[in-house]
Amino acid sequence: MGVVVVAAGSGTRLGADRPKAFVELVGVTILERSLRGVLAALPDEVVVVVPPTHVDETSALVEHLGESGSRISVVAGGAERTDSVSAGLAELSEGIRWVLVHDAARCLTPVAVFERVLAALRAGVVGAIPGVPVVDTIKVVDTGGVITETPLRETLRAVQTPQGFDREVLTAAHAAGAAATDDAALVEALGHDVLVVKGDHRALKVTTPEDLVRAERLLSELP
Ligand code: C5P
Repeated sequence: MGVVVVAAGSGTRLGADRPKAFVELVGVTILERSLRGVLAALPDEVVVVVPPTHVDETSALVEHLGESGSRISVVAGGAERTDSVSAGLAELSEGIRWVLVHDAARCLTPVAVFERVLAALRAGVVGAIPGVPVVDTIKVVDTGGVITETPLRETLRAVQTPQGFDREVLTAAHAAGAAATDDAALVEALGHDVLVVKGDHRALKVTTPEDLVRAERLLSELP
């Protein structure tokens, strides 16, 4: 199994002086925390996708992570998240059958979430992603803000990463070239079923300064 960790976003909404993955959360960067979480899932291979300006710094970090048993490489990402994922996929070795795409920003994701996604792939699905039920009622609105639809809340899930797929299917989905905010959407667009498995509130995506505070609180509650 290979993992593509996307960390090439600028993190504008966090308002820091550096790309989000390089911001520290209680003394350790978001990227390093994510990578340690990913390595706990014992992947054969990890591709870390970072801004072109941060390839050297990340290569040094990866060396410092030490003996993990996983092959780790670092590549430069692109302007959109899908460009960064494509750059990571291109770097995976030929023999890799399943690939998990993970947002570096979800740096507190428990290893159990990786294991649930992998278990679903091993059981034969083409794609599996973690998700949690939504607490709010969600509305679909038009460009003027007028509600056009109220989906049944019981049918909705807020989805997270790692998102796992058959490697060939995900590569074909990216080659099809559409824009999307997650990888599952590209695979769905090809007509494949993607299963939602149980996510975890700790897999939050650190996006705003408030998320950093939440993440610090979650960390302080960990054993
Ligand atoms: O932009 P957003 O916060 O949704 O990004 C989710 C993840 O995708 C982050 O870990 C971010 O670093 C990554 N990303 C990327 N390349 C981009 C944009 C986002 O690797 N061009």
